[in-house]
Amino acid sequence: MSFFRDSRTLITGANRGIGLEWARQLAGPTDRLFATCRRPSEADQLHEIAASHPDTVDLFTLDVTDPSAIQAVVEQVQDRVGALELLVNNAGINGGGKQDRFEGVDQETMMDVFRVNAAGPHLMAKAFADLLRAGTAGRRGATDGRAAVANITSQLGSIANAQSDTWHSYRASKAALNMCVRLQAAALRDDGVVAVALHPGWVRTDMGGAEARLSPEASVEGMMEVVGDLSLEDTGRFFAHDGKELPW
Ligand SMILES: NC(=O)c1ccc[n+]([C@@H]2O[C@H](COP(=O)([O-])OP(=O)(O)OC[C@H]3O[C@@H](n4cnc5c(N)ncnc54)[C@H](OP(=O)(O)O)[C@@H]3O)[C@@H](O)[C@H]2O)c1
Repeated sequence: MSFFRDSRTLITGANRGIGLEWARQLAGPTDRLFATCRRPSEADQLHEIAASHPDTVDLFTLDVTDPSAIQAVVEQVQDRVGALELLVNNAGINGGGKQDRFEGVDQETMMDVFRVNAAGPHLMAKAFADLLRAGTAGRRGATDGRAAVANITSQLGSIANAQSDTWHSYRASKAALNMCVRLQAAALRDDGVVAVALHPGWVRTDMGGAEARLSPEASVEGMMEVVGDLSLEDTGRFFAHDGKELPW
């Protein structure tokens, strides 16, 4: 957990599901947690976490498809802490999920899903790049001078594994996100910022459904272990929550 101690982190989509669990598990160890979501006024569970960690957790409004909202949050983070060690690009939509088959694919759904799942995280990484570069300087000797972008993708975005006629818009958007991860890695490697793709597993959330194998707790515990162990050699890699490397 040393990577998280005294680090400054921002999460998107922190009001429910996997993002809420990241907020719950990070609120303790981190020095500062910027928990963002589209409608903080409705995020009761996130407010409870913030109330238990009043000196650590800040709630910001952020829709990842809105570039001016992204910029406004960058400025808030800049003013408050001036650096970030971890950006968790978690927000995502499923675009009809299993029912989104070849015959039903439509432009509007595809574009909506791409905007949230691929363009959103990539533009977030770009917007926060300077704060992440500043994060590589380390803080009070507690972090070891690393900064990372954890992009929550899906094994459904693996082109190598794609075989069924389901989840069209979602799979294509996550494959695009995976490419964005490689491009983030290429752009940020020389500055010491790590960018990875993380598959959280099949998780019991609104998106994953009640039948899913993993609890949000177990998924995020696993992903935190992966993130905690990252080094610059890992940049541009695609890991599952249990640390296994996945095929692109
Ligand atoms: N659950 C799984 O089995 C599974 C498997 C593989 C990958 N994933 C990935 O894990 C991530 C989290 O999924 P989840 O299961 O926690 O899903 P979820 O329960 O449906 O939650 C999705 C989150 O994304 C937010 N969001 C959606 N559009 C947004 C936007 N434009 N701007 C900001 N936030 C937005 C939602 O906010 P609102 O409440 O405002 O809608 C919500 O907080 C996603 O990227 C998903 O693709 C999940």
